Amino acid sequence: MSSPKHVAIIMDGNGRWGLKNKKSRNLGHKTGLKKVEKIIKSSIKNNIKYLTLYAFSTENWKRPKLEIQFLLNLLESFLKEKIEKLVKNGVKLKIIGDLKKFPKKIQSSLKSAQKKSDKNKKLLLILALNYGSKNELVNAIRKIKEKKMKINKSSVTKSLYTKGIPNPDLLIRTGNTNRLSNFLLWQLSYSEIFFVKKMWPDFNERDYKNVLDKFKKIKRNFGNI
Ligand code: IPE
Ligand code: IPE
Ligand code: MG
Repeated sequence: MSSPKHVAIIMDGNGRWGLKNKKSRNLGHKTGLKKVEKIIKSSIKNNIKYLTLYAFSTENWKRPKLEIQFLLNLLESFLKEKIEKLVKNGVKLKIIGDLKKFPKKIQSSLKSAQKKSDKNKKLLLILALNYGSKNELVNAIRKIKEKKMKINKSSVTKSLYTKGIPNPDLLIRTGNTNRLSNFLLWQLSYSEIFFVKKMWPDFNERDYKNVLDKFKKIKRNFGNI
């Protein structure tokens, strides 16, 4: 059996990890970000071609203002400090989600980061920011109507943010919670799903490799036998 081409991850459990270890949810987010770098590296090593990371959902705006501000600052510093290295390592960046709700400065750094990495081919890193699957589907239906396209699986697929990207073969959710939280509902319809007990800041390369090895042993039927 083969390795996954596309891995999607719901990086959950930062807040709980932070409260338990550092007495602050935000320090959990900061530690979680370090894990993001490690998992990107490890994905390249394992020859994964697409990595989608759920970083901020359309529902996460319900959180306290200070936590949201901290997350936005983390995103900004990630873009400032890490993009060059990612580009050098062959990573192409693509954002999915509605960026209009983000501060203008972040919108333009995201745009320029995507442009800078546009020619890269080693790994497509897809960051889900202000992403919600229900909004994505509603927008897709709107587009289909505007363009007077036929309604079928192909036109829906082509009208999603993930146009041109194969569906995830594997979804990993850390944080000991067994739900999808409005993530890629259309695209995950035949993905293998692994719910991991560890909180995201504790999830390491060995844990990742373990899931990848388990994935390889699965016989995927897609309805067939
Ligand atoms: C996931 O961790 C990161 C984001 C949603 C930004 P959480 O912040 O949801 O962590 P828990 O689930 O509260 O522990
Ligand atoms: C999902 O985690 C979103 C991200 C990891 C970015 P949440 O922590 O927001 O999910 P719920 O609200 O517990 O379902
Ligand atoms: Mg959570």
